[in-house]
Amino acid sequence: SAAEKGGYDYFMLKEIAEQPKAVADTLLGRIDLAGNLCLDEVRIPASVLREVSKVVIVACGTAYHAGMIAKYAIEHWTRIPCETELASEFRYRDPILDQRTLVIAISQSGETMDTLMALRHAREQGAKVLAICNTNGSTIPRESDAVLYTHAGPEVAVASTKAFLTQLVACYLVALYLGQVRGTKWGDEILSVIRELSEIATQVEEVLETMEPVRELARTLAGKNTVLFLGRHVGYPVALEGALKLKELAYMHAEGFAAGELKHGPIALIEQDVPVVVVVPSPRGRSVLHDKIVSNIQEIRARGARTIVIAERGDETVAPYADHLIEIPATPTLLQPLVATVPLQVFACELATARGNEVDQPRNLAKSVTVE
Ligand code: AGP
Repeated sequence: SAAEKGGYDYFMLKEIAEQPKAVADTLLGRIDLAGNLCLDEVRIPASVLREVSKVVIVACGTAYHAGMIAKYAIEHWTRIPCETELASEFRYRDPILDQRTLVIAISQSGETMDTLMALRHAREQGAKVLAICNTNGSTIPRESDAVLYTHAGPEVAVASTKAFLTQLVACYLVALYLGQVRGTKWGDEILSVIRELSEIATQVEEVLETMEPVRELARTLAGKNTVLFLGRHVGYPVALEGALKLKELAYMHAEGFAAGELKHGPIALIEQDVPVVVVVPSPRGRSVLHDKIVSNIQEIRARGARTIVIAERGDETVAPYADHLIEIPATPTLLQPLVATVPLQVFACELATARGNEVDQPRNLAKSVTVE
């Protein structure tokens, strides 16, 4: 009913708007006054976490994209090797797991069959399983050794939005916590990132307030057949997520690529007027990444692409190459997906509406996939 949608036309719009609160709620009570993480609720003793020799993340769909981003954070802040794998692939390739492997299963519903089967397999091999889940008491957390709940509240729209942002927050918390417990050379960075995490809800709110031009742009692209997405580093999974949203909702051909792969094939797809969304890392910090992507944008634009650039506010080097510029607030490199994904959600939702599609119930899809 309209009341359930809180005045919005679709649950998806309501859930996009709820993201600042979902992010804040997922952080709530997990950072103490001294700025340290307290995740006692994760009932895996620190002594066990100190002995972890490998992290394996399993998930499907959007949750898998959160897991891909988590890999960058976990390896950077903890120096523990981490791999992220589609749950449906993981179980069938005889993965190497032992008592020192920490498996993280990410799932909004907690009922996804592939993810459940992957975690069962991992536990049979003696690995410890931590679930990151949004649904209290669902099967995946019940069958795991420990759980860190995301506090997104119920997500009704089939296309995941607020659950994704909170999965990212939970992944960062786990990565930072592992770093904190094990003590790495990144101690100071970890403290400063924990502080920056507290700003994220406000920054997501800022992004939401500036989305009208994104909606306008989406409407002008309703007749297109293809949209491509490019990103590097954590921007790469963001590109994949932007493409997935567009497939699910707008039923358009949409593909995400690692920008560094362009010359290895995808650049052949660039032709006159094809829209290409590019997620640009901050020009501060690891600026090599930034400069590389700026030259990628120049390359595709020279071949006729219509560039839709998501970049940090005040990034002047990229602006001249953007046919459409979508500005996002400055965040630490690893946290950028929390703000960069939001315009892509809005973009897909508006395109779906413009094409007359059912936003909350896309064709052929179910909210949770409880079969293999
Ligand atoms: C995302 O928009 C999806 N509809 C889908 O990819 C989803 O993320 C996936 O099925 C995993 O679901 P889960 O988080 O409930 O396990």
